[in-house]
Amino acid sequence: INITKAEYIASAVEPRQFPEEKLRQIAFIGRSNVGKSSLINSLTRFHNLARVSREPGKTQTINFFKLTAKYYEDESIKDFYLVDLPGYGYAKTGQANRKKWASFIEKYFLFPQDLYCVCQLIDIRHDPMPSDINMFNWLLKHEIPVFVIATKADKLGKNSISKNISCIKKALKVPELTILPYSSVKNEGRSYLLDFIGHALVE
Ligand code: GTP
Ligand code: MG
Repeated sequence: INITKAEYIASAVEPRQFPEEKLRQIAFIGRSNVGKSSLINSLTRFHNLARVSREPGKTQTINFFKLTAKYYEDESIKDFYLVDLPGYGYAKTGQANRKKWASFIEKYFLFPQDLYCVCQLIDIRHDPMPSDINMFNWLLKHEIPVFVIATKADKLGKNSISKNISCIKKALKVPELTILPYSSVKNEGRSYLLDFIGHALVE
């Protein structure tokens, strides 16, 4: 597919603010600063679509972006949402805030909607943190399909990439998992992810 249109639709802090139009959704979750907003910009090639920041905790609301995909084969068109979720594991937020975050995210995941899968982003340079592992297990427990993406792959050489991917699989305890290395700087992993989404929209 090719992304021909991408626009910001809504920011929500509770379900009544979710967009009215029902479209298939693909959500992005991960620790603060892991590169969720950057990945959305890289994927769409709309560079100011999602706000990026060097400071963790930039995205504080659930942000919906409506995208139009055009299929190469028959030029058919499909609209869908990419959903940028606020990051977890932000050290400076207190316990109260973390609780608020959890109930807020939970409401999103448990709200009836056409959520195809959650892309969980993990920094390729480090072992998954307990918060990553908890999130992953929570999604499995709720039978929400999860696709793991290892971000900032441009920061490592080839050998370290495959070594670190194995470490992530081991930490998540799913050895047969497919993990996609991604770089928003070099757009590596982009065409794989677009193919994945292309299939997701017609399934
Ligand atoms: P929150 O909204 O705070 O949860 O963060 P986020 O996950 O949306 O991260 P964001 O996309 O804002 O990126 C955080 C920082 O990482 C920024 O300084 C980005 O430029 C940088 N970054 C993101 N992706 C990549 C990447 O693929 N490679 C490199 N080298 N840097 C990246
Ligand atoms: Mg963000």
